[in-house]
Amino acid sequence: MSRSGVLADRVGVITGSGQGIGREFAEAFAAAGATVVVADLDGENAEKVAAQLRGGGAQALGLGVDVSDETAVTRMVEAAVAEFGRIDVLVNGAAIFSTLTMKPFEEIGADEWRKVIDVNVNGVFLCCRAVSATMRAQGSGTIVNISSSTVLGGRPNYLHYVTSKAAVVGMTRSLARELGPAGINVNVIMPGSVETGIPRDSARPEAVEQIVGNQALKRRIVSADIAGAAVFLASDAASMITGQSLVVDGGMNFL
Ligand SMILES: NC(=O)c1ccc[n+]([C@@H]2O[C@H](COP(=O)([O-])OP(=O)(O)OC[C@H]3O[C@@H](n4cnc5c(N)ncnc54)[C@H](O)[C@@H]3O)[C@@H](O)[C@H]2O)c1
Repeated sequence: MSRSGVLADRVGVITGSGQGIGREFAEAFAAAGATVVVADLDGENAEKVAAQLRGGGAQALGLGVDVSDETAVTRMVEAAVAEFGRIDVLVNGAAIFSTLTMKPFEEIGADEWRKVIDVNVNGVFLCCRAVSATMRAQGSGTIVNISSSTVLGGRPNYLHYVTSKAAVVGMTRSLARELGPAGINVNVIMPGSVETGIPRDSARPEAVEQIVGNQALKRRIVSADIAGAAVFLASDAASMITGQSLVVDGGMNFL
């Protein structure tokens, strides 16, 4: 059945969409007419979100996937293509984020450092690599990566996280060059501090007050503010935009 909206009949694979901003992406994509593969380490959450989207009339598939596991990522792409026949959009939202404890970098253990890089950097690489054959065969596709505006400000006590998100910006630019000739766009969103309803170390009340105070626009950013940018980048309105970093931080940093 054909649906209306700026993403009508596009198939989007959205990692990390079991909760938080990723979940909002899934809802916004479905509302814009897309078919959505809801992929998350938490397979139960993924299936819940997919069921909710189906209840709203969209086509959706929920998958439990660890993006740092090469085999699982390959299976995710195979399942998406088997179910829906194509992949038009990949949103790399999965990351170790809300579960992180902020701490001075000297206190970050080597294992914790490697784990963050493995999911937040290697996971993005594996997912991009896994969709490339399908998108190349289609002659079209869009990849939307999720970095963070902490990369621009250099937020302290988050060295593993900020480093991982900086890598995603470099990956976006190089991939845009490699995939552009195949008609594939690659962009990155750099969100500021977003209220997602999920508690986390970096969004304690005193920190939030300071963050909003440093924004040009004096209100808390919510997940829908980021989802709007993702829908735009995945749509035809952004068809000649590639390799770019879209900062959605209420005007805290200017590129
Ligand atoms: N919330 C913010 O203020 C903010 C700001 C800047 C950037 N971001 C980025 O936006 C994205 C979403 O943030 P959020 O606040 O919703 O985070 P969150 O921690 O609430 O959600 C992350 C999701 O990713 C999933 N995930 C974690 N590891 C995974 C893995 N190995 N494989 C598959 N899924 C995995 C989790 O299960 C979870 O559902 C992240 O990339 C985050 O770094 C968030």
